[in-house]
Amino acid sequence: MLAQRISRLTSSLVRDILAAASQPDVISFAGGLPAEDALFVPDAAGLAPERLRAALQYGPSEGELRLRELVAQQLNSLGLSCGPQQVLILNGSQQGIDLMAKLLIEPGRRVLVEAPAYLAALQAFRLFGAELDGWSRVEGISAEAKMKEGLQADTCMTYLTPTFQNPSGACYSAAERRGMAAVLDAHPGIVFEDDPYRDLAYDGPAPAPLVSHLRAARWVYQGSFSKILAPGLRLGFLVAHPELFPHLLRLKQAADLHSNRLSQLLVTQVLEDGLLAGHLARILPDYRARRDVMAASLDRHLGGLASWTLPAGGLFFWVKLAQPLDSQSLMQRMLRDERVAIMPGSAFFAQPADAAYLRLNFSHASPERIAEGLARLGRVLRSQRTAS
Ligand SMILES: Cc1ncc(COP(=O)(O)O)c(C=O)c1O
Repeated sequence: MLAQRISRLTSSLVRDILAAASQPDVISFAGGLPAEDALFVPDAAGLAPERLRAALQYGPSEGELRLRELVAQQLNSLGLSCGPQQVLILNGSQQGIDLMAKLLIEPGRRVLVEAPAYLAALQAFRLFGAELDGWSRVEGISAEAKMKEGLQADTCMTYLTPTFQNPSGACYSAAERRGMAAVLDAHPGIVFEDDPYRDLAYDGPAPAPLVSHLRAARWVYQGSFSKILAPGLRLGFLVAHPELFPHLLRLKQAADLHSNRLSQLLVTQVLEDGLLAGHLARILPDYRARRDVMAASLDRHLGGLASWTLPAGGLFFWVKLAQPLDSQSLMQRMLRDERVAIMPGSAFFAQPADAAYLRLNFSHASPERIAEGLARLGRVLRSQRTAS
């Protein structure tokens, strides 16, 4: 009775781990959750009653015009030339992934993804039957050459998170973005850039979006208010090449008519009043400090057991274990015996990985709990080394 694609729906590891991680005694490095006190609490009481009332009626599928204008303005300031008529407001940027999968994927179509890549994107692409090809940067070879190697003649979409990637934390340089864009420009496939972490930059601003370097390829770029304001608002946006926009708009209409208008009203107000910059100025030093505590704790407790690089932004450390352990068993043991939730790296690969990895989030746990959780992880890894 069920559609064939339902058999491709993998059980969500994230949901299971996050459920366990929300227990108060668990130190969680598992999710991508903002810190509780970094959540922006909008002034709903300050909204004019007539604006509030208007927001309770059905609205346009594209989203509120003023919000689309503000998003377009922001993207133009990043070097991504676009108009508000290309902006579609989403119910969280996860919806953009679903809409893109519906737009492009049929069973057997090839999609090029990073290795590793955001696991909920892999799940969505698999649901629609995509054949996933993995692409990654390799030391000593240009990103451009690797991209050329990864693209097949029939790749229908390339999905990239070039800025503070989830899970790797990687941020491609401007030169790499230009080189990759040149290769993508010579290919008929569509480029999909996912950019929810751009504003969480701790060591200086990120380079302009990769799609801003495209001259010929058709593209979709998306961002989110989840990580910088609050995920419960469920608000994101995409901006699409004019040829793709009308199709995405119809898909959005079919999915949910439009995004939540109260959230749109609140976020419009935040942007219009210029409150986002102040909020970021408040939360970034705290996130930077947590990142630095995690870096120091990794040095202290995992030195010799694993390797990692300091992420210049985003929410994660990507840790490569020196031992060839099964990261899912390690995750289970850490949760059961140590009450520490970690995310196994294997979930983020379309094909089996070359080694064991862990993704560790640093934005949610307090600095003290970060240090304690990593001490426990170090102890377990050392005991496993002695055991093997
Ligand atoms: C790369 C990436 N894309 C999209 C999303 C979805 O975010 P949201 O739907 O909250 O905007 C996430 C969330 O963690 C993410 O890491």
